[in-house]
Amino acid sequence: MKGIVIYYSYSGNTSKVASFISNYLGVESIEIKTKENIFSDENIIKQSQKLIKNGFEPQLEKNSYNLSDYDFIVLGCPVWWFTCAPAIVSFLKNNDFTNKIIYPFSTTGSWKGHIFQDIEKYALNSIVKKGLYLNFSNGEFMGSKQEVQDWLDKIKLDMKIF
Ligand SMILES: Cc1cc2nc3c(=O)[nH]c(=O)nc-3n(C[C@H](O)[C@H](O)[C@H](O)COP(=O)(O)O)c2cc1C
Repeated sequence: MKGIVIYYSYSGNTSKVASFISNYLGVESIEIKTKENIFSDENIIKQSQKLIKNGFEPQLEKNSYNLSDYDFIVLGCPVWWFTCAPAIVSFLKNNDFTNKIIYPFSTTGSWKGHIFQDIEKYALNSIVKKGLYLNFSNGEFMGSKQEVQDWLDKIKLDMKIF
């Protein structure tokens, strides 16, 4: 089983977690980047609400990896307005996830929303495993490190079994 960590991060929290996971599992990590800056407005909370309501799907920078090389993807996504940040929606809708195993993790403030159900909806024909929410406040991880380790150890076990 060959895996990869793929994530989007706007303000750095998801990036920190992705880097930890990538080291822990010993797999490569790739950042999804939008071609253009998403925000033109200074009030990003207000602007993002409008973008999400209108189903905004930003164009993404091309990446060098080939998804068909991987059996599983640890997918990191921040919650935006109770759902996936739009860059992740673009990524999921524009790639083939048939038979891929996805382990989703999400960094959030205090309103988790329904991000894992949304990932399942967009990543057609994939197998979405139990996700992990990581609560952040002012850039600091507020959750249980043991819970993160248990979640990652389960992935490690899956990697060996399949
Ligand atoms: C535009 C925007 C919308 C957000 N909406 C939510 C939300 O609905 N619920 C929540 O718990 N946190 C929300 N947050 C907080 C982020 O999910 C949280 O800070 C996350 O860790 C950011 O990840 P990042 O630093 O990798 O970009 C929002 C942040 C931004 C920038």
